[in-house]
Amino acid sequence: MKFFIDSADLKELADLAQTGLVDGVTTNPSLIAKSGRNMLEVIKEICALVPGPVSAEVTATDHKTMLAEGRKLAKLAPNVTVKVPLTPDGLKTCKALATDGTMVNVTLCFSAAQAILAAKAGAAFISPFVGRLDDIGQDGMGLIAEICQIYAAYPAFKTEVLVASVRHPIHVITAAKLGAHVATLPPNVLRQMYQHPLTDKGLAAFLADWQKTGQSILG
Ligand code: G3P
Repeated sequence: MKFFIDSADLKELADLAQTGLVDGVTTNPSLIAKSGRNMLEVIKEICALVPGPVSAEVTATDHKTMLAEGRKLAKLAPNVTVKVPLTPDGLKTCKALATDGTMVNVTLCFSAAQAILAAKAGAAFISPFVGRLDDIGQDGMGLIAEICQIYAAYPAFKTEVLVASVRHPIHVITAAKLGAHVATLPPNVLRQMYQHPLTDKGLAAFLADWQKTGQSILG
């Protein structure tokens, strides 16, 4: 399972990249706005920091302008993945960019029907938003199960399931059980995944006992 980080905060990304666990980054217009930075500059810097796919989202809504934006974004770095919304124009743009050899992440997916369309349009990634479905009382992880089942039935579909709008480690565990290819994690969720009180308690006891021996491994 790959881990992407859902953030445009360079400092945060640089810190998390050091864990060795980060396979890519996703951004969206809200995260760019939160960073307070120029989008093109921040995407270039993220691409230099993380070797894996870095999603940069178009902001036009018509096919012609989306395609021009997508082509411009794709030129920023070899690891840019162009993100398009799951609309008719977005999928048309996905198909055109994918045909050019550009990786496309189709975002704002909330149904299995939409995920089928994205796979047929040649998306490299489909981003179902699990947290936002949970927020309205629908089953976010149930959607991941449906998409994984459908994609597995069609080996010709090369689209990877990228679980987005992740709120907590249980989303990640469930996504892993379902065999989702990628989860994009807010930085705090990756940090929460390390935590268990018995790890802290156990380590404290080991260190206390070790100190009593008076030994040092490095001499
Ligand atoms: O980047 C897309 C997605 O992960 C957004 O998450 O928390 O805004 O629902 P959220």
